[in-house]
Amino acid sequence: MPAFTASAPGKIILAGEHAVVYGQPALAVPVPGIRTRAVVQGKPGRKSGEVAIQAPAVDLDHVLDELDPEHPIRWVVDLVKKELDIPRLPALNLRINSEIPVGAGLGSSAAVSVAVIRALSAFLGHPLPDEKVSALAYQAEKVHHGNPSGIDNTVITYQQPVLYQKGSPVRIIQIPASFTLIIGDTGKTSLTSETVEAVRQAWKEDPERYEALFDQIGALVGTMQRDLENGDLAGVGQQLTANHRLLQELDVSSPELDRLVEASLDAGALGAKLSGGGRGGNMIALVRAGQQDAVVGSLQEAGAAGILVSVVRGSTED
Ligand code: MEV
Repeated sequence: MPAFTASAPGKIILAGEHAVVYGQPALAVPVPGIRTRAVVQGKPGRKSGEVAIQAPAVDLDHVLDELDPEHPIRWVVDLVKKELDIPRLPALNLRINSEIPVGAGLGSSAAVSVAVIRALSAFLGHPLPDEKVSALAYQAEKVHHGNPSGIDNTVITYQQPVLYQKGSPVRIIQIPASFTLIIGDTGKTSLTSETVEAVRQAWKEDPERYEALFDQIGALVGTMQRDLENGDLAGVGQQLTANHRLLQELDVSSPELDRLVEASLDAGALGAKLSGGGRGGNMIALVRAGQQDAVVGSLQEAGAAGILVSVVRGSTED
């Protein structure tokens, strides 16, 4: 029996995290160098309905029915069954391998959902279009995050730079020339659900202050979009750092993130910020070709637990 495989990339939020939950626009790009792969293979010898799941990255080796119905992987399989109106699956093996670290702000949960939805729907003979894949992954994100904006499932499904705003059609951003991001890991995991909830509590306590910050972030995203489309990397860098300062005011940075951001700026990066939920996870620095080694060295000295170099490809380049 043939195996059906699908993969999904990691993601980086360039600008607008947290404010995007409150209706502001945000910009995100895929990180194609780190991926989650899902492989579905039929097992005709086994009892129909028996679904075996292995996900070594999260230490999972189980039969689907034995998982809690709220378990995110069971949830996503059930979403596909419901979407395709298949009450009982044929016996199958689902194997998920992920290079995307969990709790690092790199979209691991959305990547698992997208890869599983694609591989399973293809195995069942009904590969789903992007719009549907993203919508189902959004439903699954709700189990992980409670109140997700929808940006992670969107950028990971479309695998293109996107401008995302709740309730508006997805907008793919055309970037004229490639640029390089250095992604620095604090080594501290942080759950997006917790940081989103912390911001919600703070917003409830002081809505005026928080909404003013969200507005400033939204305006900055608009400027960054224009800079990206014009290939103005110095402008993009300025907006990145300005966004980090506003995220500090939202109280979602951490000493480790701040240290890596300052280390990148000191080494000549065009701009730097935390990316994703914050209070741990990863930060990003935008560099010109000649600055890469200095920024990587500076991040290592500042204690980065891991460093990844990711090139965002220009729209007209191969
Ligand atoms: C997570 O990648 C980005 C947040 O804005 C949460 C969300 O948009 O769902 C922190």
